[in-house]
Order: sequence, then structure tokens, then C-alpha cells
Amino acid sequence: MSTSVYVETFGCQMNVADSERAAVRLRAAGYELSDRPNNADVVIFNTCSVRERAAHKVFTRIGEVRRTRLGVEPVFGVMGCVAQLEGETLFDNSPLVNLVVGTRATDRLPALIDRALDRKQRVIDLGERDETDAWDVPATARTSPYVAFVPIIEGCNKFCTYCIVPFSRGREKSRSAAEIIDEVKQLRDYGYREIHLIGQNVNSYRPKTEAGLEQFKGATLFARLLRAVAATGMERIKFTTSFPRDFHPDIVAAIDENENLCNWVHLPVQSGSDRVLRAMRRGHTAADYLRRIESIKNARRQIAITSDIIVGFPGETEQDFRDTMTLVSNVRYDGLYIFKYSERPGTPAAKLNDDVTRTEKTARFLELEELQKRQQRTIYESYVGREINVLAESVSAKSESDLTGHTTCHKVVNFPGRSVKLGEVAAVRVTDVKQNSLYGEALAAA
Ligand code: 5AD
Ligand code: SF4
Repeated sequence: MSTSVYVETFGCQMNVADSERAAVRLRAAGYELSDRPNNADVVIFNTCSVRERAAHKVFTRIGEVRRTRLGVEPVFGVMGCVAQLEGETLFDNSPLVNLVVGTRATDRLPALIDRALDRKQRVIDLGERDETDAWDVPATARTSPYVAFVPIIEGCNKFCTYCIVPFSRGREKSRSAAEIIDEVKQLRDYGYREIHLIGQNVNSYRPKTEAGLEQFKGATLFARLLRAVAATGMERIKFTTSFPRDFHPDIVAAIDENENLCNWVHLPVQSGSDRVLRAMRRGHTAADYLRRIESIKNARRQIAITSDIIVGFPGETEQDFRDTMTLVSNVRYDGLYIFKYSERPGTPAAKLNDDVTRTEKTARFLELEELQKRQQRTIYESYVGREINVLAESVSAKSESDLTGHTTCHKVVNFPGRSVKLGEVAAVRVTDVKQNSLYGEALAAA
């Protein structure tokens, strides 16, 4: 019997993409992939460090898995951001961890597991990606059969002062456009209906050569890539996350020109106060950001805008917070992820005196959330009676008779699904509004 490996994924889409890549490499090396941790020979956690106490959560999860097992201990491995950041200390803090695999070592995972199975040594690899590493994942090995994540850039050079990503994911590395386009064509031919071009900052895309982009014009390499990917004819193309300073209006022009470039932009602002933005070293002011928003709002199609905001950054005053409230009420976001600032060891902001109390952070969080809920409800209500196209992605977790999926503007829509097959795009008339989703009735396959 071949050795079985279970991989559990936390965090962002980049981790989902890495786990897919890991699974492909493991199968090719003769490992069997297991969907449960209780009898796998190797149990790996692909971890995220964006949330607080990330390492602690891994140890808790290891404990939980151990309790479900009878007999033999598995090889426990940690990959992803926590592995990269904590390195050897994971071994010091848990006698159970035998394997630590950094964010750029995914392709070497099979060989690392081989060594760890020996048990005579603990194995760690925090090295860089090999130049010859392939990024692609065959269509057959994806998490969803209808929506695929395609990494185009990895890492981050921005060093926003609160953020751990430049440390956990290293410097920006862009993938060649020719390779991206080939992968998208393969996914299209295999029947995928939607792809997401993913990266910490997709619009900072800067490949070493222009291979694959020769015939596509644009003000930036990312705008050219969008046009090139649109030309593959893939039905729906989304991209996330965009960085405000590099958000060129030509991106909006490309969306206007190509129906298959979806009408959704995720453009995190983090704060509405110039003082705080400077302390965060974001490289833009509130006015710069609002100019980008204007260009998006002036598009021919209505483009949904979503964002991330941190409240309670060290030194954030009541006035700074009011500036954030004003910005949010001016932009009117379709969706907003709000975070209370918390220190990430090793980041520049960790050296600042965090003078905003927990109570104050919570109060600001709740006030901003209330504003967002109110505005979002108005936006969502404007969809009632409208007909929208929804990709039926899965059966709803809440009701077995409902299907769930996304619009091109990336809103979640649930609808009774008898007449629609999974993987179809259905025309849905919106009848009802929930806090973070729409409800409707399927009219026909669109
Ligand atoms: N504290 C709170 N939120 C953070 N984020 C990143 N680092 C921190 C931190 N130290 C948020 C940012 C980012 C999102 C993915 O997580 O808003 O855009
Ligand atoms: Fe973190 Fe800033 Fe890079 Fe985003 S742009 S990943 S917030 S450092």
C-alpha cells in the first residue's frame, strides 16, 4: 500500500493554490492523497499567519487530530506562512512536528516527506523556489471543477508596516504570461467557467520577459495580461488582490473592453486617514485612493468594489477613525473585511507603542461594521427584481434543496436548484436580501 498524505488548508487563495500544487507533486511521486487526517501516514497543515496566534492554532489542531487516531502517530508537517516564519522554533515548541516546509519549497515536498518518514531526523526546508519549478496545476487536480485559482505573482515588496506577508512569502516573483495563458486555455478546454488570477498584489505583475504579451497593448504589464487572458475566451475572469498605488485606470479600460473580465475589484484601503496611511507606509493618500475609485465608478459597466480596513492601528486617534468612516461612507463598498489591528512579531509596526485599547478597537470595529451593514443593505436591495447570472458552484451549506454560487460582481447568490445543474450559469431573479448574500429564483440556464 502506498503512503497516504492528508493536507489541511488554512487562509488565503494562495494557500489553496499551493495545496493543489502539493497534491499534484505528491501524486506524481507515488503518494496517495487522503481526505481525512485520522488514518493518513502524513498529516500536513498548510498554515496562514495573517490571523493572530497562528502558531498556537497549529498546535491545537495537531492535538485534535491526535485524539481522533488509534495507534500509530503520523508524521506531522507544517507548511505555508507559519512554517516560513517560525522555522526551527516549531520543532522546539512541539515534539510532534517532524517536518517544516517553507512557502517556496512546495515543489520539494515529496522528497522532504521521504526523508521525514525515516523519523531519524526532523526535516526543514525554508529555501527559495528552484528556477525550474513549474507553477501549473492540471485541470483535473483542482479543488473546484468550475472555479480555478491561477497564481500570477507571489510574494510582496511593499512592506506595509503591520504586515507579515513580505516576510512569510518573500519578494515579488511574477510568472511568465505565456505560461499563465497556456494554463488558462487548458482550464477553458477542460470546461472551467471561471478563473481567478491571484497574488498579494496582482497589479504589480512584472514578468522577466514579455513572452505571451507581444500582441496585447496596455499601459502596464498587468493591463496587457488582462487583455491577453480575456482573449483566451475564458468565460469569467476575476483577479485579486489589487494594490492602490499600482492601480492604473487602464485596468478599468480593459474591463470595459472585455465582457469576460468581471465587474469586481478588490482594492484594500486599510485606513481613511493620511496620517495613519503614512504610518502604515502604504504609499498612497486617501485622495489618491479616491481617484482610483472614481475611475472604477466611471466605467461603462457597474463594477463592484470591496476592501480591507484595519481599525485601531497604533496611534490612530478618534479623528483618524472619523476619516475612515467618511471614506467608507463616500465609497459605498459592496463588501468590506474589517480587522482590529494586532501585532505581528518582526514587523516594523510591532515596535510602535500600541496605544489604542482593546475596548476602543472593538468599539471602532463595531461602528464601522454597522455603517457597512447599512450601506451594503441598500446596495443589495437595489438588486431585488433584477435578473443576474450566477455560476452554480455547489449545494448550499444551509439547505440541500438550494444551490449557491457567485455573480460576475462576486456576490453570493442562493437559489432553489432543481432546474439547474452544478457548473451551469443560471439566470436568477433576485427576490430577497440577506446580510452577505442574495436570494432568488432560477429562470433558466443563461
Ligand atoms: N493586524 C490586523 N489586520 C491585518 N491585516 C494584515 N496584517 C494585519 C495586522 N497586523 C489585514 C489587512 C490585509 C488583510 C488580508 O489582513 O487588512 O489587507
Ligand atoms: Fe501586506 Fe501591504 Fe504587501 Fe498587502 S501590500 S501583502 S498589506 S505588505
